[in-house]
Amino acid sequence: MRQSLVIANWKMHGDQKANEALVVGLLKLLGRQANRGECVLCPPFPYLAQVHELLGDSGVTLGAQDCSHSESGAYTGEVAAAMLADLGCRWVILGHSERRQYHQESDALVAAKLAAAQRASVVPVLCVGETREQREAGEAEQVVESQLRGALADQADLSRVVVAYEPVWAIGTGLTASPEQAQDMHGHIRGILADLDPEQGDKIRLLYGGSVKADNAAALFAQNDIDGALVGGASLDAEAFAAIVGAA
Ligand code: 13P
Repeated sequence: MRQSLVIANWKMHGDQKANEALVVGLLKLLGRQANRGECVLCPPFPYLAQVHELLGDSGVTLGAQDCSHSESGAYTGEVAAAMLADLGCRWVILGHSERRQYHQESDALVAAKLAAAQRASVVPVLCVGETREQREAGEAEQVVESQLRGALADQADLSRVVVAYEPVWAIGTGLTASPEQAQDMHGHIRGILADLDPEQGDKIRLLYGGSVKADNAAALFAQNDIDGALVGGASLDAEAFAAIVGAA
């Protein structure tokens, strides 16, 4: 049985005042939920320490939105996975489509970042997903397979990895994959993971991301291979995000 997992990706939003109101409000709402699954907040780098402090011993854990492929050295502007661990991060989002699109991140770079995260004992949340053009051309499954194999084929240990399927056409657009479309892709991903690691394939948690809201979350989570969500816009609203966590 895979435990549900809902991760907030704040992207490049927030300031100290807004973060405090959001986290305090969220913890109040989550405190009323009995038996909830795992929940993670990923603020921008400068706010990791603030959010870590606000989360305290609430049980909600901290993640980051990216890390370097390298352990230390002359990499101006980069943040090492060990620094994230040092600040209390347990998770790091890697290979997000916005990184692939705006920073030209390749599967090879994502693989190197993933290995760096694992060396620092930070759990990578690997994002994969096709664009609208790729889906319309009937290439979605093949694109996702090559992103998965590109990032995971050479990793020694898949026991501490999470995969998030985020169709690019559904991110921030209000368009969501239907629960059936999402399940079809999650089933495909599950098959590839089982091929890469027969031992772990069935245990790896698969999240759906792309316009997840309070009103579509339950139908997505009802699917066999959808174990939770990676939430962008709705994670900036305490009530909406708490409702998604509650649905998981
Ligand atoms: P939205 O929930 O805003 O569509 O963003 C999804 C996402 O990119 C999470 O990583």
